[in-house]
Amino acid sequence: MTLAILSALHDEQRGLIEQLYQPYRTLHAGREFWQGQLQGHPVVLALSKIGKVAAATTATALIEKFGARRIVFTGVAGGIGPGVQVGDIVVAHQLVQHDLDASPLFPRFEVPFYGQSGFTADPQLTEQLLQACRAAMVALGQPGKVHHGLLASGDQFVSCAQAAHTLRRDLALAGHDALAVEMEGAAVAQVCHDYGLPFAAVRTISDRADASAHVDFKVFARDVASRYACAIVQALLKSLSIQ
Ligand code: ADE
Repeated sequence: MTLAILSALHDEQRGLIEQLYQPYRTLHAGREFWQGQLQGHPVVLALSKIGKVAAATTATALIEKFGARRIVFTGVAGGIGPGVQVGDIVVAHQLVQHDLDASPLFPRFEVPFYGQSGFTADPQLTEQLLQACRAAMVALGQPGKVHHGLLASGDQFVSCAQAAHTLRRDLALAGHDALAVEMEGAAVAQVCHDYGLPFAAVRTISDRADASAHVDFKVFARDVASRYACAIVQALLKSLSIQ
């Protein structure tokens, strides 16, 4: 059963490609897809690109053309929950689109005709991902925390403390306690929901979605994200059965 590993950043993907056994590269829909094996598992690696539409296109191609039967997303995010700090990890329990608003036709944040705002990540894959993240933190000697909760996705890089506060408050008023913001996860979760495939997502916190977010993000992406992604994926693959 082919596992797709969808990365947000080049830096995260590079380390995985280097480890790929029998790598095979295909260009499709303006994207690179890498097929091969990692620890004996058939995998396909891709970059999501940035934003919800780009990520949904990549996820659809992974499923329709490359036979992905489960998708794991690794990336970085801005921490907005209390106590969610740079260097921590958030594993998604649910994912919501913070910029989706078809009110008054539908409640704010609800995905029209789905009757729901949040998409819940696959419980089993998520539990394995949580354990992999804890193992990776130990292997990397990192002191950060592993959180499990809501990721909020939208087509916006949040780089202002006031905007982050408003976003978190508005979501909370609708019953959503967001831990971090990013730009793709909920879109991929919706695609996997449509196809009935398991999905799990992990985000390492690169910034606090405030005025220094863009600086923190760049440094983190270059220096840290790839090490986290490799360690997490390696630990996850150890725990998955080969099918
Ligand atoms: N990904 C990493 N940091 C982010 C931020 N502050 N806003 C949106 N996506 C992000």
